[in-house]
Order: sequence, then C-alpha cells, then structure tokens
Amino acid sequence: MPVLLGISGSLRRQSFNAAILNSLADALGDKATLRIFPLNAIPMYDQDADTDTPPEAVAALRAAIGEADGIVIASPEYNHGMPGVLKNALDWASRPYGKATLTGKPVFTLTSSPGAVGGARAQAQLNETLASIGARTLLRPQSVIGSVHEKIADGRLSDTSTLDFLLSGIDALLAEIERPASAVREAN
Ligand code: FNR
Repeated sequence: MPVLLGISGSLRRQSFNAAILNSLADALGDKATLRIFPLNAIPMYDQDADTDTPPEAVAALRAAIGEADGIVIASPEYNHGMPGVLKNALDWASRPYGKATLTGKPVFTLTSSPGAVGGARAQAQLNETLASIGARTLLRPQSVIGSVHEKIADGRLSDTSTLDFLLSGIDALLAEIERPASAVREAN
C-alpha cells in the first residue's frame, strides 16, 4: 500500500488544515496510509547548521519525505503567502542540494481558509517553491477550500463534497506515484 506523508502549514492546535489531513487519513481506507509529520520541532533554517549532521528534527523530516511515496501539503494563507513555518521546512527539505529527498517526489498541495479565496495566493507561492525544488507537484485538481470554518466539525471535515473532492486529489496523487519513471523523464 502506498505511504503518504501529510504536512500541515499551521502549528495551531485546532488547525483546520490539520483537521483536513486527519480527515483524509481516516478516509483513505486501503488506498494508502497517510502519516502526518508535525513541523513544531523544525528549527529556523540556518545554512551553518545544514551540515552532514543536521538538527535531529530536520533529519527526521528529510527521512520521512524520503520514505514516503507521495506528500500531501495542507496549508493556510498568511498575509497572501504561505506561512513561514512551511517555507522554512521546505527550505530544509530542499537540501542537500541535488540530493534532496523532496526532489522528484509527487506532491499534492491544498490550501484552506475561512476567507472566500481559500488561500489561492499561498498555494501559487507554495507550488512555485516546490517547482524550484524539482518536486512533481500536481496542478490539477487545484484544491483551494474557502469558508473552511463552516466545513469542519469536531476536528474533522464535515462537508462531504469537499472531502470527496480532496479524495479525487489523492487519487491523482496515487496515479502520479504509479506513473513510470520513464514517462516522468519524457514529460520533463
Ligand atoms: C491569516 N489568515 C488569512 N486568511 C486568508 O485567507 N488570507 C490571508 O492573507 C490571511 N492572513 C493571515 C495572517 C495571519 C498572521 C493569520 C494568523 C491568519 C486567516 C487564516 O486563514 C486562518 O486563521 C486559518 O484558520 C489558519 O489556518 P489553520 O490554523 O486553521 O489551519
């Protein structure tokens, strides 16, 4: 069964984005397993600390990305961009240069917000950063969830049409994982 790694761009205990990841983990059944990697322990990026023995939490993040078949990132938008917590983690995950475990990895990104735009600006920025790292980011279905506060109850997605839509994104991620490496090389 494919193993997916979920990363939330929010550290908030009652995070809607974390709730979405937990809901996806519950709903996957025997399609895949989704393990969630909290970013709380990741230090601020410091190139001086980015040595052969990086901080323990960073080594754990890089290893978890490497062991996963695909990544699911769920993030809020902060001031029209991705939260610093997420950008910081991606900067760590982008190294060692040329050998990053995130490079070439299939990634499904989603953003959600209580606002109407659903974090679309943060998602554009996030996808741009992932392109820089050489991740295989899905561009469809574009998953931006507006009015998210009305779609969560008791720490889970209560809006079934949103859950079904996001599961179609997971299906696209699983299809990308299955795509032969030769087809990926040709497309690039
Ligand atoms: C926000 N929020 C927000 N929402 C949005 O749609 N566009 C934005 O630019 C911002 N900016 C922003 C900045 C900061 C510093 C905070 C704390 C919040 C609101 C944000 O989407 C909302 O708090 C979400 O609920 C945060 O996501 P989690 O923690 O629920 O996953």
